[in-house]
Amino acid sequence: MEADLLIHSAAQLLTVAAQGRGPKRGAAMSDLGLIPDGAVAVRGGRIARVGPTAALRATVRAAREVDASGKVVMPGFVDPHTHLVWAGDRADEFERRLAGATYQEIMAAGGGIMSTVRATRAASLAEIVAQSRPRLEAMLAHGTTTAEVKTGYGLTLEDELKLLDAITFLAEEHAVTLVPTFLGAHAIPSEYLGRADAYVDLIVEEMLPTVAHLNYRLALVPDEDDVEEETVNYRPAARFCDVFCDEGAFTVEQARRILTAAKRLGLGLKIHADEFAPLGATRLAVTLRATSADHLVCTPPDQLQALARSTTVGVALPGTPFGLGQGKYMPAREFIAAGGALALATDLNPGTCWCESMPFIIALACRAMRLTPAEAIVAATLNAAHAVGLGQKVGSLERGKEADILILDVPDHRHLAYRFGGNPVQAVFKRGDLVAGSL
Ligand code: NIG
Ligand code: FE
Repeated sequence: MEADLLIHSAAQLLTVAAQGRGPKRGAAMSDLGLIPDGAVAVRGGRIARVGPTAALRATVRAAREVDASGKVVMPGFVDPHTHLVWAGDRADEFERRLAGATYQEIMAAGGGIMSTVRATRAASLAEIVAQSRPRLEAMLAHGTTTAEVKTGYGLTLEDELKLLDAITFLAEEHAVTLVPTFLGAHAIPSEYLGRADAYVDLIVEEMLPTVAHLNYRLALVPDEDDVEEETVNYRPAARFCDVFCDEGAFTVEQARRILTAAKRLGLGLKIHADEFAPLGATRLAVTLRATSADHLVCTPPDQLQALARSTTVGVALPGTPFGLGQGKYMPAREFIAAGGALALATDLNPGTCWCESMPFIIALACRAMRLTPAEAIVAATLNAAHAVGLGQKVGSLERGKEADILILDVPDHRHLAYRFGGNPVQAVFKRGDLVAGSL
């Protein structure tokens, strides 16, 4: 057969091939679908064939060949939980936390998320894009080829739309596939202090219908002569709705209202669950059949078990307790033992975890949560793809999937977890094109 690209002779080719249509759970998370001396052929931006080098070389004629001797070839990382788009920074808070203040004390005093909200509201769309672009570049350089991105630092309809526009703009100009999530329920804005339910009304009655129907609404009024309209036409609807359900943020009842309304509008559901306090958000995620429940640091055992038996993917964010200098992590081993589908994400954000690197998160997950390197890799690829609803398109090297491929300059996949603080990613292919690194 004819191919555009053949990457061959990899010391280890990790297909992370799925067993069925869903994510890998429990013991199956140890299966990387590893092919020694492996090769992958790409045609039309998709995976055409995967197998031993000898078999592919005998049958594939490729326009371009890449020798991956001594290297690991694997699917691009999917980062299923990021807050990529914001303005400013919170280095001052970081220093105050080192001196003893807690994240929630700072939040209660009007800092924390609200401090970034003030900076983001004051910034123009162009400024937000300019500040977020280097972070997206860093993500790609570290091997992320698909990422979920949340709004949540606007908290007015206009400012949340500005963040959706920033996500769209970056997605248009950049190789990384971005999945937009509406997180209007990230914090109770200071102008609604003591009136949280009124803010929930605003989310349910005005913000959600707008972010869920943007394409539809705008498609009804196409105006080809009007440049502004054309620009606006690019604005996509959010694909998911998320709520920060925790002490000092939204209650379970408020989260239920918001997520139920979002579901009715056709959005997928996500929830920041049990990061600081076990309010019952994980139970809510299972009841509402959310696509993912994220954080899960202090989830009670019965709810963790229920989550493991559900179709909801559990997303661990070990960079967050690390970033906060806390010693408590999601009990990921218990979750996997109960048959759960675990994914890993960075949680990239200016407050708790400014980290663009999935390789660092993998290294941390193996130490802090006792994952094996194979489990961590599955969690950062195929299972992460399922956590953003793209499990049939990306996350593994299987025939028909998008050719999002990494070449790592290490001889064995365990080096991804074993080493840390550097970047093992040598080259990144997105739909078959070299988009970062070099050969
Ligand atoms: O996932 N917990 C809520 N959201 C982020 C933190 C955001 C911030 O502090 O700016 C998180 O940890
Ligand atoms: Fe988060």
